[in-house]
Amino acid sequence: MKRHTTLVTGASSGIGEALALALGARAAHIVLVARSVERLQALKRRIEDAGGSATVIGSDLAEPGAAQRLHEDVRRQGLEVDTLVNNAGFGYHGLFEAEPVEHLLAQIQVNVVALAELTRLFVPSLLARRGTVLNIASTAAFQPAPFMSTYGATKAFVLSFTEALWAEYRERGLRVAAVCPGPVETPFIDAMGSGVRGAPLFRNMLSVDEVVQACLAALESSSPTRVVGWRNGLAAQSARLSPRALTARISAGLLRPR
Ligand SMILES: NC(=O)c1ccc[n+]([C@@H]2O[C@H](COP(=O)([O-])OP(=O)(O)OC[C@H]3O[C@@H](n4cnc5c(N)ncnc54)[C@H](OP(=O)(O)O)[C@@H]3O)[C@@H](O)[C@H]2O)c1
Repeated sequence: MKRHTTLVTGASSGIGEALALALGARAAHIVLVARSVERLQALKRRIEDAGGSATVIGSDLAEPGAAQRLHEDVRRQGLEVDTLVNNAGFGYHGLFEAEPVEHLLAQIQVNVVALAELTRLFVPSLLARRGTVLNIASTAAFQPAPFMSTYGATKAFVLSFTEALWAEYRERGLRVAAVCPGPVETPFIDAMGSGVRGAPLFRNMLSVDEVVQACLAALESSSPTRVVGWRNGLAAQSARLSPRALTARISAGLLRPR
């Protein structure tokens, strides 16, 4: 019997690494994608030890055209993807004017452009295979995120894009879902900026395992959106009910660098 194949972007660290390992342990074939090829090779060996199999593809998704090259690479290797997990992403926390322009653009390229492009490239074959697209968004998607405005906006794109595709494809056998974690203890946090751990929102963090469990549940479910953690779910809902200016000001208080 042919193994179920899942492609995970951002599999070299944090959520993507743990999710790839969890899926690999279910005897699936995992296509591991990130820039850190040595880390991916080490993960491939762990997946094989757990009874799964894996293919490593190095890709810098901040480079224009990377999604196209990745898609071609997958096809050239004869791999047929059943589940696409768009997980690669990074953020910035701090004063807007202090973020280098190249960093801001790379964030949009990885979090938005590559995700949309990969989804578009894989959807025809995923439709034919009645597959799944799982996008890792964030609770930052539900309201503006002062001091991480670009990151929040990229995740708002991911959530809106995912929910729209969910509704568009739900009757055609393709599942599309977003998982929205609040802050998670991964290398992502310190990479965002030095003031992030002092901001009130980042005092309570989810574990990677909680997010992986939510991803596994999302892969089994027919709903478009899964917010991880009940407090985060409540905050996401309340942001929709309060006036937009008030929501933005409350967010500024929770995200202000300390
Ligand atoms: N941690 C949180 O608090 C949190 C909360 C909500 C949502 N999220 C989202 O969860 C996802 C995973 O984040 P994480 O917390 O697991 O962070 P992480 O541990 O820093 O992992 C990020 C992954 O993305 C990959 N990546 C980054 N830039 C890339 C590029 N240019 N090309 C290819 N791959 C790239 C990294 O691989 P290489 O560096 O090897 O390329 C790494 O595997 C992201 O989309 C993030 O926005 C995180």
